[in-house]
Amino acid sequence: MSESLHTLAAMPTERQPGCPFDPPKELREAREHGPISRFPFPDGHEGWLVTGYDLLRVVLGDQRFSSRKELLRHHWAMDLAGIDIPPAPPGEFLLTDEPLHSRYRKPLVGKFTVRRMRQLTERVEQVTAECLDAMEKAGPGVDLVTAFAKPIPAVIICELLGVPYEDRGSFQDNIDKFMSGETPDEELFAAYTAVQTYLAELVVAKRANPTDDVLSDLTDSDLSDEELKGMSVILLAAGLDTTTNMLALGTFALLQNPAQLAALRNDPALTESAVEELLRYLGIVKTGIRTALEDVELGGQTIKAGTTVVLSTNTANRDPERFTDPHLLDLRRQDGTHLAFGHGVHQCLGQQLARVEMRVAFAALLNRFPTLRLAVPADEVALRPETADIYGVKSLPVTWDA
Ligand code: HEM
Repeated sequence: MSESLHTLAAMPTERQPGCPFDPPKELREAREHGPISRFPFPDGHEGWLVTGYDLLRVVLGDQRFSSRKELLRHHWAMDLAGIDIPPAPPGEFLLTDEPLHSRYRKPLVGKFTVRRMRQLTERVEQVTAECLDAMEKAGPGVDLVTAFAKPIPAVIICELLGVPYEDRGSFQDNIDKFMSGETPDEELFAAYTAVQTYLAELVVAKRANPTDDVLSDLTDSDLSDEELKGMSVILLAAGLDTTTNMLALGTFALLQNPAQLAALRNDPALTESAVEELLRYLGIVKTGIRTALEDVELGGQTIKAGTTVVLSTNTANRDPERFTDPHLLDLRRQDGTHLAFGHGVHQCLGQQLARVEMRVAFAALLNRFPTLRLAVPADEVALRPETADIYGVKSLPVTWDA
């Protein structure tokens, strides 16, 4: 492997045909040259791209690399020159740094612990069984995204937060719009505003009439309604779209790897490691971004203060220096921690919930439909574009023997 400093000319906009699960070849090639590459942004800014596992983890763990929204002045797909980017709205803590970040994250941590999430297992099992019953009734032949991958995480996050699931017309399609990577800017803004407005009203209602859920609990604190609205936006959006895409894309990946699928069917005890391996292999939250707050030495390079650093998490999850046969889906893999949930202060708050949902849902799906298969050729499965923040399938037509 050559360690010469490589330059990535542009962020790839497509994956290789026939390789829906692999990071684009330009990113894999960048990793082959070394863990860090130069990356000139379209507006001329001299930024950096990190593709190596160890280095990426260092950046995520180092608070000299900021997540603050107002500092993110360069984008690989948009020219932001002359645009004054405001700070994240109050409460949207993913795009803040300490100490503000902790103000929002701290009151939530105890509500998403392993123990709390395991207590939800029975409810996740019930909701999953209801979806599978409805699939059986409607099929053979359904879109797995609408019948299974969407409703399970949606019902659960709604119940946990205290967002009425029957109101989903007010937020689900709009959240899809801002995650899909395909919505024009004006529509994106309208979708985001509609979700904010819905949640602002809900927060006021919870404060007036608290119920037994996370949002009501949060009203019993010094957080303002404006802050609670921002926190709700982040929690609802993150809780809906991510697990949905893991369930649907994960099923697609299993169906395309029959030996692995058979191993999982024959040995349900594999489910935990299978879920971790699917998280690593699929790396649906593909890319992160940070801004250096001061000059930082990283991988033999000086990252100047104010420079934007792009983090290719899915490439790092395929780093050959970290994982044996990294491009292989191996559900028995034991060689370590992936970065699919991030690392450091912003590490995914909902990871234990996502794990419970995926363990229960994959196991139940395979158990209920032993002959589950794609209903269309694999190359006809519609995939999200590379520009989407979260990768996945748009729909997954499946069928089975009645
Ligand atoms: C398989 C599903 C999921 C994946 C792959 C995933 C991935 C991630 C990643 C990579 C980050 C870190 C982003 C960064 O450092 O910039 C993150 C943050 C976050 N995730 Fe998840 N997530 C998943 C499910 C969930 C669920 C179900 C929730 C439910 C509430 C959730 C809530 C959050 C929140 C609130 C943050 C922000 C944390 C912070 O800034 O402190 N996630 N997630």
